[in-house]
Amino acid sequence: MPPPFAPGALFLAPMVALSHRALRELVLEFGGLDIAYSEMASAGAVVSGSPYEECYLDSDPCPGKLVYQLYATKPERLPEALAYLADRPVFGADINFGCAAPHITKAGGGAAWMREPEKAFALIRTARAAWDKVLSAKIRLGHDEDYERLADFVRGMAEAGLDYVALHPRFEGQKFRRQGRWDIVARLAAEMPLPIVGNGDIRGWPDYRKRIEEARPAGLMIGREAARRPWIFALLRGREASEDFSMEVDLRATALRMLELIESRLIPEFRLTRAQRFFFYYADNFAYAHYIKWKLMNSPDLDAMRKELEAYFEEQPSDRIRRYSE
Ligand SMILES: Cc1cc2nc3c(=O)[nH]c(=O)nc-3n(C[C@H](O)[C@H](O)[C@H](O)COP(=O)(O)O)c2cc1C
Repeated sequence: MPPPFAPGALFLAPMVALSHRALRELVLEFGGLDIAYSEMASAGAVVSGSPYEECYLDSDPCPGKLVYQLYATKPERLPEALAYLADRPVFGADINFGCAAPHITKAGGGAAWMREPEKAFALIRTARAAWDKVLSAKIRLGHDEDYERLADFVRGMAEAGLDYVALHPRFEGQKFRRQGRWDIVARLAAEMPLPIVGNGDIRGWPDYRKRIEEARPAGLMIGREAARRPWIFALLRGREASEDFSMEVDLRATALRMLELIESRLIPEFRLTRAQRFFFYYADNFAYAHYIKWKLMNSPDLDAMRKELEAYFEEQPSDRIRRYSE
């Protein structure tokens, strides 16, 4: 099955409190991004009209590149939510089969669906009937290592009507400390009847090249590095075009731009938590990362964060402009 996106497309991963409109806009200002996932929204809450869900599902500034990620704990809620969203001019919708957070899996959502394949296939079939745009699922490897079971699951999802699968190759509940299993991405990408998008641990050009060459996924999805370095997509595309490519980034201007985007695009209740989540990763670019992280995490509001950042760059002017080549 050909992918419904350009071969080798670059995706922004769905991440709670990170994959919102402000981050998407910042990434798009640097360029290189093909498709962006939203923050995860609850199908049940979409149906009941929760105001927060509308913030997660804000599709600006690039609806045609946006995938709504939804999780469902009750099967009937997903087609209802998709029918409710059917007129939105987005690229696609994704079913979350990977989230291992206990409050989601205990209620039967996220990774819990992978333990009951027939129910998961039935869910996809009803979602397919309610949604005529692109439909994907984001999965993990399942609860333990069993390649044939995983392959059967992916084949079943293809038959049920999915257009592609995004795979984060860790087992259910496995933390980031252990390396993801890109050997399994490679095998599925070669053997499955539908496109496999690979995701996990892409920190820059060397990882990107290795994963593209060894696993040959239909596309590549990046999560945490997009918050750490929102220019990562532009950098990868630049390096693809030329070995000598490098980018000069104004770390101060980018930080202040993100605060401005958070203030102007997100509702007040979301601003501080989203800014803290972003700077938790972004501060890794700074020479005194722990120091500034601590200051920002303990700031009471965005104005205080702005002052901390200004003070930091006053003291560390050499941190302001950085050149990145990988
Ligand atoms: C803060 C955070 C929130 C996440 N939230 C979601 C989510 O809502 N849905 C989902 O499918 N995956 C979620 N993930 C997993 C990411 O989409 C991605 O699979 C994972 O971070 C591995 O990619 P990376 O190494 O490029 O970060 C989240 C990850 C992080 C770090």
